[in-house]
Amino acid sequence: MPRKVNYGVDYDDDGYNDYDDYDDYDYGYEVEENVKAPSEQDTIKHGVWRCSICTYDNEETMSSCDICGVLRGPLVNNGTYDEKRTANNFDLKSSRIPSRVVGKNEAVKLQSSTEGSDGSYDSTAKDKHNRVDEVIFLKNLEVRAPSSSKTADNSSSSMPKGRLDNVDESSDAVNMRSRGQSSSSLMPKEKSDKVGDSSSSRHGGEAHTLNLKNMSLAAKSGHSNDISLGRANSRAQYKPEKWMLPEKAEDSLTQLNLAIVGHVDSGKSTLSGRLLHLLGRISQKEMHKYEKESKLQGKGSFAYAWALDESAEERERGITMNVAVAYFDSKRYHVVILDSPGHKDFVPNMITGATQADAAILVIDASIGSFEAGMDGTKGQTREHAQLIRSFGVDQIIVVVNKMDAVDYSKDRFDLIKSQLGPFLRSCGFKDSSVSWIPLSAVENQNLVVAPSDVRLSWYHGPYLLDAIDSFQPPTRDFSKPLLMPICDVIKSSSQGQVSACGKLEAGAVRSGIKVLVMPSADIATVRSLERNSQACSIARAGDNVAVSLHGIDGNHVMAGGVLCHPDFPVAFAKHLELKVLVLDGATPILIGSQLEFHVHHAKEAARVARISSLLDSKTGKVTKKAPRCIVAKQSAVVEVVLHEPVCIEEFSKCKALGRVFLRTLGRTVAVGIVTRIVGEQ
Ligand code: GTP
Ligand code: MG
Repeated sequence: MPRKVNYGVDYDDDGYNDYDDYDDYDYGYEVEENVKAPSEQDTIKHGVWRCSICTYDNEETMSSCDICGVLRGPLVNNGTYDEKRTANNFDLKSSRIPSRVVGKNEAVKLQSSTEGSDGSYDSTAKDKHNRVDEVIFLKNLEVRAPSSSKTADNSSSSMPKGRLDNVDESSDAVNMRSRGQSSSSLMPKEKSDKVGDSSSSRHGGEAHTLNLKNMSLAAKSGHSNDISLGRANSRAQYKPEKWMLPEKAEDSLTQLNLAIVGHVDSGKSTLSGRLLHLLGRISQKEMHKYEKESKLQGKGSFAYAWALDESAEERERGITMNVAVAYFDSKRYHVVILDSPGHKDFVPNMITGATQADAAILVIDASIGSFEAGMDGTKGQTREHAQLIRSFGVDQIIVVVNKMDAVDYSKDRFDLIKSQLGPFLRSCGFKDSSVSWIPLSAVENQNLVVAPSDVRLSWYHGPYLLDAIDSFQPPTRDFSKPLLMPICDVIKSSSQGQVSACGKLEAGAVRSGIKVLVMPSADIATVRSLERNSQACSIARAGDNVAVSLHGIDGNHVMAGGVLCHPDFPVAFAKHLELKVLVLDGATPILIGSQLEFHVHHAKEAARVARISSLLDSKTGKVTKKAPRCIVAKQSAVVEVVLHEPVCIEEFSKCKALGRVFLRTLGRTVAVGIVTRIVGEQ
């Protein structure tokens, strides 16, 4: 059943509007007192010179800062920093952090970097980093440095900020929509009608939209401070009940959550729509309707994409804004497609959706100039998406080289793309054996679900796309661990007093009638009913995408960004965390006091870097320097961050999905990391 869409990345609705007047050209780094600005005295201290950016005391003999690479010269000459200097300099324009601080030692709220920020970046500094696609491992994290990336188009400011009338009103950004079966068994009819988006219901496979509530969990949770007492229970000691473990005969198909990622306009939605149509998930009648309607709006080429891009704005702009969820079965898998937005403004949405992926399809536009645009260190999203997907823990991907019709199915073009992208994927940590390369045309239906018929593709002898999907290794699941389900979205029925939590089960299992702990409110609720992939079911297990209808709980205590867990094994709810991070290629330096957006599963908070404990050798993970003043691109480090409000979180070693974090600022991901220690719980 369709639900009304209230989409967009609207950070400024969630308490970030302290910075409505934020201008990313007008501010420098906001730093703590211990990173004081350089004084004249500092610069003439005997035997050392102090870096104007990170304040590190460098030896006289150094011509550039040992820590952040800024040249000494300008400081010596005039004591100021010239923004347009050399490849060694980091661009101040792009590294500006709003300087207003709520209070001493308190994190500030950031305005959305996705709104209005052009995130302009010093090309010299960037190029320097992008030239080197070298391998940088963050030990235990399995990620490597990507390039900087963003698209030129920045039009998110036109995004509407409508309301979800009877979905939780405080939900701000909607990040995922599902296309497939009805969720009506969890939603009373009248409610469903109210929330329905008429455009969504065109698909026969009724679409709905899942929300990410970008809100402070603590504010609404009524969270009990005593909850950490319950955390004495070790998850390792947990003994699963028999019903939790799948029986072989039960279902021969494994669930595969498949993220479709790639640069804007590479054809992700068209490919997804085409697959769904070819596999019978979109009827001929529906397809005919899309074709007619898209033509009428002068967007005929988007007919297949319309199956996924359901909102009026997505269709009008011809871009995906929220992750769309759809289902089909292959020979081996129940495939859940997570069609991600490629536009740089919607990377946060991409993160919240694709973080659930077991495997991914990276879509490349083969057309002349388009592949190159996607790979561009400044504007391209190919690299950032590949990097993010790898840091989500996805290690098997299919690279779909789409739009081969536009290059006459040229083998040379395909080989060139492979030769340029291949080394980068390797540098991200993808093994060659886990990457498949498939040339195809979504529009001309070549090489999708059967071998290509066009003779111009006769040089290709590999599998077609559906075959390649079936060749993925089945994901491993934590069936026998205590229940953990990060809540991606909440559906509420005010008339019936029903509330459903939606998300992917990361560990354990759930069935009707059991009690679950809803974090961070720490309320116990009973599972009334369940839907898996939008179909009613009695049991759902790790890996499944579910909507869990709850009773015995105030609907306001169930929120996106929260977690459903086993009553005896609550997740942590904390704001002071130790992380191991890798600063991405092309990112601005991270200093003590830097204000960043902190993303973990479906939660987001403003964060302040409170401490940089040590720099690590990217390859060995060994400490190379204690207490550095800053971390620069491609360095990994142990840092402590303090969040503005606590979030539901786990150490990575205990739960990967709840322990992977992303740090963003000014509309780009600057670092990926894992939680190594929860310093203080609430
Ligand atoms: P975002 O979600 O906004 O990042 O875009 P997308 O990657 O989903 O691209 P979308 O499917 O919206 O397609 C963008 C344009 O590419 C449309 O005009 C499609 O018709 C066109 N397109 C997609 N696949 C092909 C293809 O195989 N060949 C050609 N020639 N055009 C294609
Ligand atoms: Mg799309």
